[in-house]
Amino acid sequence: MRKTERLDKLLSNLGYGARKDVRHWIKEGWISVDGKPATSPAQKVFADQVLLEGKQLDHADGLTMIYHKPLGTVCSRKEQGRLIYADFPERWIDRKPSLSSVGRLDKETSGLLIVTDDGQLNHQLTSPKHHISKTYAVTLDRPLDGSEIERFASGKLILEDDDRPCLPAELTMLGETEVSLILHEGRYHQVRRMFAAVGNHVNALTRTHIGSLSLQSTALGTGEYNTITAEELMRLVAPDSH
Ligand code: URA
Repeated sequence: MRKTERLDKLLSNLGYGARKDVRHWIKEGWISVDGKPATSPAQKVFADQVLLEGKQLDHADGLTMIYHKPLGTVCSRKEQGRLIYADFPERWIDRKPSLSSVGRLDKETSGLLIVTDDGQLNHQLTSPKHHISKTYAVTLDRPLDGSEIERFASGKLILEDDDRPCLPAELTMLGETEVSLILHEGRYHQVRRMFAAVGNHVNALTRTHIGSLSLQSTALGTGEYNTITAEELMRLVAPDSH
Protein backbone atom coordinates (compact mmCIF):
# COMPACT_ATOMS: atom_id res chain seq x y z
CA MET A 1 0.00 0.00 0.00
CA ARG A 2 1.24 3.51 -0.87
CA LYS A 3 1.77 5.51 2.34
CA THR A 4 3.52 8.68 3.45
CA GLU A 5 6.54 8.66 5.76
CA ARG A 6 8.96 11.17 7.24
CA LEU A 7 11.68 11.86 4.68
CA ASP A 8 14.58 11.18 7.10
CA LYS A 9 13.03 7.92 8.33
CA LEU A 10 12.38 6.72 4.78
CA LEU A 11 15.97 7.31 3.67
CA SER A 12 17.57 5.86 6.79
CA ASN A 13 15.35 2.74 6.59
CA LEU A 14 16.48 2.26 3.00
CA GLY A 15 20.08 2.28 4.24
CA TYR A 16 21.14 5.60 2.67
CA GLY A 17 22.47 7.08 5.92
CA ALA A 18 21.64 8.40 9.37
CA ARG A 19 18.95 11.01 9.89
CA LYS A 20 21.66 13.67 10.39
CA ASP A 21 23.01 12.84 6.92
CA VAL A 22 19.54 13.51 5.50
CA ARG A 23 19.55 16.98 7.13
CA HIS A 24 22.86 17.68 5.45
CA TRP A 25 21.65 16.45 2.03
CA ILE A 26 18.56 18.68 2.28
CA LYS A 27 20.80 21.72 2.99
CA GLU A 28 22.97 20.83 0.02
CA GLY A 29 19.86 20.57 -2.19
CA TRP A 30 20.50 16.93 -3.11
CA ILE A 31 16.96 15.75 -2.38
CA SER A 32 13.83 16.65 -4.32
CA VAL A 33 10.23 15.79 -3.50
CA ASP A 34 7.75 15.90 -6.33
CA GLY A 35 10.15 17.97 -8.40
CA LYS A 36 10.84 20.59 -5.71
CA PRO A 37 13.80 20.81 -3.31
CA ALA A 38 13.08 18.99 -0.01
CA THR A 39 12.46 21.42 2.84
CA SER A 40 12.61 19.43 6.08
CA PRO A 41 13.65 15.99 7.39
CA ALA A 42 10.18 15.74 8.94
CA GLN A 43 8.44 16.32 5.59
CA LYS A 44 5.88 13.58 4.88
CA VAL A 45 6.55 12.01 1.50
CA PHE A 46 5.62 9.12 -0.76
CA ALA A 47 8.76 7.16 -1.63
CA ASP A 48 8.13 7.42 -5.37
CA GLN A 49 8.11 11.24 -5.19
CA VAL A 50 11.66 11.41 -3.83
CA LEU A 51 14.84 11.73 -5.88
CA LEU A 52 18.28 11.62 -4.24
CA GLU A 53 20.93 13.19 -6.43
CA GLY A 54 18.42 12.91 -9.26
CA LYS A 55 17.87 9.16 -8.80
CA GLN A 56 14.78 7.22 -7.73
CA LEU A 57 15.08 5.45 -4.37
CA ASP A 58 16.30 1.87 -4.48
CA HIS A 59 13.54 -0.77 -4.00
CA ALA A 60 11.49 1.46 -1.70
CA ASP A 61 8.55 -1.00 -1.86
CA GLY A 62 10.55 -3.96 -0.56
CA LEU A 63 13.45 -6.09 -1.73
CA THR A 64 13.46 -9.74 -2.76
CA MET A 65 16.12 -11.53 -4.73
CA ILE A 66 17.02 -14.87 -6.21
CA TYR A 67 20.63 -15.61 -5.30
CA HIS A 68 23.16 -18.29 -6.22
CA LYS A 69 24.94 -18.93 -2.94
CA PRO A 70 28.58 -19.90 -3.36
CA LEU A 71 30.35 -22.51 -1.24
CA GLY A 72 32.09 -21.15 1.85
CA THR A 73 29.69 -18.30 2.70
CA VAL A 74 27.33 -18.17 5.69
CA CYS A 75 23.70 -17.06 5.93
CA SER A 76 23.75 -15.93 9.57
CA ARG A 77 25.74 -13.33 11.44
CA LYS A 78 26.07 -15.86 14.28
CA GLU A 79 28.24 -18.14 12.12
CA GLN A 80 31.93 -17.70 11.39
CA GLY A 81 32.82 -16.83 7.82
CA ARG A 82 32.07 -14.51 4.92
CA LEU A 83 28.40 -13.45 4.99
CA ILE A 84 26.22 -13.85 1.91
CA TYR A 85 25.32 -10.14 2.33
CA ALA A 86 28.85 -9.23 1.21
CA ASP A 87 27.66 -10.10 -2.33
CA PHE A 88 25.01 -7.34 -2.27
CA PRO A 89 25.31 -3.52 -2.35
CA GLU A 90 26.65 -2.33 1.01
CA ARG A 91 23.63 -0.13 1.66
CA TRP A 92 21.28 -3.12 1.75
CA ILE A 93 22.70 -4.42 5.04
CA ASP A 94 21.38 -1.27 6.78
CA ARG A 95 17.83 -1.56 5.43
CA LYS A 96 14.86 -1.88 7.77
CA PRO A 97 13.00 -4.18 7.69
CA SER A 98 16.21 -6.14 7.34
CA LEU A 99 16.99 -8.72 4.68
CA SER A 100 17.10 -12.36 5.64
CA SER A 101 17.56 -15.58 3.77
CA VAL A 102 14.56 -17.85 3.33
CA GLY A 103 15.78 -20.78 5.38
CA ARG A 104 19.51 -21.35 5.46
CA LEU A 105 22.06 -23.16 3.42
CA ASP A 106 25.15 -24.41 5.29
CA LYS A 107 28.55 -22.88 4.74
CA GLU A 108 29.49 -25.94 2.67
CA THR A 109 26.27 -25.94 0.60
CA SER A 110 25.82 -23.94 -2.61
CA GLY A 111 22.80 -23.19 -4.75
CA LEU A 112 19.46 -21.46 -4.96
CA LEU A 113 18.57 -19.15 -2.09
CA ILE A 114 15.89 -16.47 -1.76
CA VAL A 115 16.78 -13.37 0.24
CA THR A 116 13.98 -10.99 1.18
CA ASP A 117 12.72 -8.33 3.60
CA ASP A 118 9.16 -9.67 3.20
CA GLY A 119 8.21 -11.71 6.28
CA GLN A 120 5.03 -13.06 4.71
CA LEU A 121 6.87 -14.31 1.62
CA ASN A 122 9.50 -15.90 3.85
CA HIS A 123 6.80 -17.77 5.74
CA GLN A 124 5.03 -18.86 2.53
CA LEU A 125 8.25 -20.34 1.17
CA THR A 126 9.27 -22.17 4.36
CA SER A 127 6.10 -23.39 6.05
CA PRO A 128 5.37 -27.03 5.07
CA LYS A 129 1.68 -26.00 4.90
CA HIS A 130 2.39 -24.12 1.66
CA HIS A 131 3.92 -27.21 -0.01
CA ILE A 132 6.94 -25.55 -1.59
CA SER A 133 9.44 -28.37 -2.07
CA LYS A 134 13.23 -27.94 -2.09
CA THR A 135 15.39 -30.14 -4.31
CA TYR A 136 19.05 -30.95 -3.66
CA ALA A 137 21.77 -32.51 -5.80
CA VAL A 138 23.87 -34.67 -3.52
CA THR A 139 27.21 -36.39 -3.97
CA LEU A 140 27.63 -39.22 -1.47
CA ASP A 141 30.69 -40.83 0.00
CA ARG A 142 29.48 -44.39 -0.65
CA PRO A 143 27.07 -45.96 -3.15
CA LEU A 144 23.50 -46.43 -1.90
CA ASP A 145 22.56 -49.86 -0.60
CA GLY A 146 19.07 -49.69 -2.14
CA SER A 147 17.03 -49.36 1.06
CA GLU A 148 17.33 -45.56 1.32
CA ILE A 149 14.61 -44.68 -1.22
CA GLU A 150 12.01 -46.50 0.84
CA ARG A 151 13.32 -45.31 4.18
CA PHE A 152 13.26 -41.66 3.07
CA ALA A 153 9.77 -42.08 1.56
CA SER A 154 8.35 -43.82 4.64
CA GLY A 155 7.69 -40.77 6.82
CA LYS A 156 9.26 -42.78 9.66
CA LEU A 157 12.90 -41.75 9.47
CA ILE A 158 13.93 -40.16 12.76
CA LEU A 159 17.09 -38.05 12.81
CA GLU A 160 19.50 -37.94 15.71
CA ASP A 161 18.33 -35.43 18.35
CA ASP A 162 14.82 -35.16 16.80
CA ASP A 163 11.67 -36.75 18.18
CA ARG A 164 9.36 -36.21 15.18
CA PRO A 165 10.01 -38.31 12.06
CA CYS A 166 10.87 -36.56 8.78
CA LEU A 167 8.08 -35.94 6.28
CA PRO A 168 8.28 -38.35 3.31
CA ALA A 169 11.07 -37.30 0.93
CA GLU A 170 11.75 -38.41 -2.66
CA LEU A 171 15.18 -39.80 -3.43
CA THR A 172 16.22 -40.43 -7.04
CA MET A 173 19.43 -42.20 -8.03
CA LEU A 174 21.34 -40.44 -10.79
CA GLY A 175 24.61 -42.37 -10.57
CA GLU A 176 26.50 -44.59 -8.13
CA THR A 177 27.02 -41.78 -5.64
CA GLU A 178 24.96 -39.02 -7.28
CA VAL A 179 21.37 -38.54 -6.16
CA SER A 180 18.67 -35.92 -6.06
CA LEU A 181 16.51 -35.48 -2.98
CA ILE A 182 13.21 -33.57 -2.74
CA LEU A 183 12.26 -32.33 0.75
CA HIS A 184 8.96 -30.88 1.93
CA GLU A 185 10.28 -29.30 5.12
CA GLY A 186 13.52 -27.64 6.19
CA ARG A 187 15.29 -28.85 9.31
CA TYR A 188 18.77 -27.97 10.50
CA HIS A 189 21.35 -29.71 8.23
CA GLN A 190 18.54 -31.97 7.11
CA VAL A 191 20.08 -33.55 4.02
CA ARG A 192 23.39 -34.30 5.74
CA ARG A 193 21.60 -35.72 8.80
CA MET A 194 19.27 -37.89 6.67
CA PHE A 195 22.21 -39.53 4.93
CA ALA A 196 24.05 -39.87 8.25
CA ALA A 197 20.94 -41.66 9.60
CA VAL A 198 21.30 -44.33 6.86
CA GLY A 199 25.06 -44.74 7.38
CA ASN A 200 26.31 -42.57 4.52
CA HIS A 201 28.01 -39.18 4.28
CA VAL A 202 27.38 -36.15 2.05
CA ASN A 203 30.48 -34.99 0.20
CA ALA A 204 28.86 -32.21 -1.83
CA LEU A 205 25.48 -30.51 -1.65
CA THR A 206 23.72 -28.00 -3.92
CA ARG A 207 20.14 -26.77 -3.82
CA THR A 208 18.90 -26.97 -7.41
CA HIS A 209 15.20 -26.07 -7.05
CA ILE A 210 12.78 -24.18 -4.84
CA GLY A 211 9.36 -25.43 -5.91
CA SER A 212 9.31 -25.19 -9.72
CA LEU A 213 12.10 -22.63 -9.92
CA SER A 214 15.40 -24.18 -11.00
CA LEU A 215 18.85 -22.74 -10.42
CA GLN A 216 19.69 -23.58 -14.03
CA SER A 217 16.79 -21.49 -15.39
CA THR A 218 18.09 -18.43 -13.53
CA ALA A 219 21.46 -18.58 -15.37
CA LEU A 220 23.01 -17.01 -12.26
CA GLY A 221 26.72 -17.61 -11.68
CA THR A 222 27.89 -18.24 -8.11
CA GLY A 223 27.56 -15.12 -5.97
CA GLU A 224 25.17 -13.47 -8.47
CA TYR A 225 21.60 -12.38 -7.78
CA ASN A 226 18.52 -10.97 -9.52
CA THR A 227 15.95 -8.79 -7.81
CA ILE A 228 12.32 -9.76 -8.36
CA THR A 229 8.91 -8.87 -6.93
CA ALA A 230 7.36 -11.24 -4.39
CA GLU A 231 4.42 -11.85 -6.77
CA GLU A 232 6.64 -12.76 -9.72
CA LEU A 233 8.75 -15.01 -7.52
CA MET A 234 5.67 -16.90 -6.33
CA ARG A 235 4.58 -17.36 -9.96
CA LEU A 236 7.93 -19.01 -10.72
CA VAL A 237 8.05 -21.11 -7.56
CA ALA A 238 4.41 -22.22 -7.42
CA PRO A 239 2.84 -21.62 -10.87
CA ASP A 240 -0.15 -23.86 -10.13
CA SER A 241 -1.29 -21.84 -7.14
CA HIS A 242 -1.93 -18.76 -9.34
N1 URA B 1 20.38 -29.74 4.19
C1 URA B 1 21.63 -29.62 4.65
O1 URA B 1 22.18 -30.54 5.24
N2 URA B 1 22.28 -28.47 4.41
C2 URA B 1 21.72 -27.43 3.76
O2 URA B 1 22.36 -26.40 3.57
C3 URA B 1 20.41 -27.57 3.30
C4 URA B 1 19.75 -28.74 3.53
